[in-house]
Amino acid sequence: PSDTGRVLSIQSHTVQGYVGNKSAVFPLQLLGYDVDPINSVQFSNHTGYPTFKGQVLNGQQLCDLIEGLEANDLLFYTHVLTGYIGSVSFLDTILEVINKLRAVNPKLTYVCDPVMGDEGKLYVPEELVHVYREKVVPLASMLTPNQFEAEKLTGLRINSEEDGREACAILHAAGPSKVVITSITIGGILLLIGSHQKEKGLKPEQFKILIHKIPAYFTGTGDLMTALLLGWSNKYPDNLDKVAELAVSTLQQALLRRTLDDYKRAGYDPTSSSLEIRLIQSQEEIRNPNVELKAERY
Ligand code: ATP
Ligand code: PLP
Ligand code: MG
Ligand code: NA
Ligand code: MG
Repeated sequence: PSDTGRVLSIQSHTVQGYVGNKSAVFPLQLLGYDVDPINSVQFSNHTGYPTFKGQVLNGQQLCDLIEGLEANDLLFYTHVLTGYIGSVSFLDTILEVINKLRAVNPKLTYVCDPVMGDEGKLYVPEELVHVYREKVVPLASMLTPNQFEAEKLTGLRINSEEDGREACAILHAAGPSKVVITSITIGGILLLIGSHQKEKGLKPEQFKILIHKIPAYFTGTGDLMTALLLGWSNKYPDNLDKVAELAVSTLQQALLRRTLDDYKRAGYDPTSSSLEIRLIQSQEEIRNPNVELKAERY
């Protein structure tokens, strides 16, 4: 094993553009991780375009890949990262994979982005919610829902920062010691709320970061955000607030600014369609983010 970590990243792949593994693998590699991607789908482009074509990996095919690794004694991982998962059967197989990897490395960190929907809309089958809630959340070490997903997982309506903090506490009780609500809108203000329960039963340490809302719609940013949170967490295991500052600063200062500027320079209206992030062009800032957005402790 390497000194930084070896990540099994089970996410979407797109031929063109940056979502899923395409937006998570490169930054994790830049931060020094060995990353082993399993592509849960291979699509021509992300699903926000007028059309897409491609293949979906099923649970049995995921099992085959894991069996191949197992047969060669290659199942040692420090981290598993999962994002968008489209079916119950695939999610059930992921649960088996986590249990298998935990048997090999009891210290395995499972970082779960419970991608189910956004802005009041579910974009996975309804029956997935139950599986996430009952079976996946209990296995997760770090969970990175957005506001809508945190509501789905807790049954709470999140209308205030207090509600957001309570949702985090409920999620801690269900399993993960680290919870980051990656985006939440309260009174027109965009923020991130983080929560670290350092010991079971203890009051979690909680913080927020105010995010300057850029008037454009990006794809791949949720996947990138979770990858950055994983990447920096390993370096600062006891400072989730610092980790979130680094991740948000990378996204805001570097990536989204650059993406917006590049599109504008090319004559596009950035509010008219979802923008592909300028990931490769931002590699210096990914390695060395300039922290300008500060976390505020509650
Ligand atoms: P999920 O992966 O569960 O869908 P999410 O809904 O939080 O998570 P995004 O909406 O992509 O994912 O947000 C992730 C992060 O990207 C936010 O914390 C924020 O830093 C940044 N971000 C995305 N869109 C914008 C925007 N328009 N303006 C400013 N920051 C943004
Ligand atoms: N995976 C695929 C295949 C997608 O098409 C998309 C968005 O269109 C995503 C993941 C999600 O990206 P985001 O990180 O913006 O939530
Ligand atoms: Mg969102
Ligand atoms: Na998220
Ligand atoms: Mg998302």
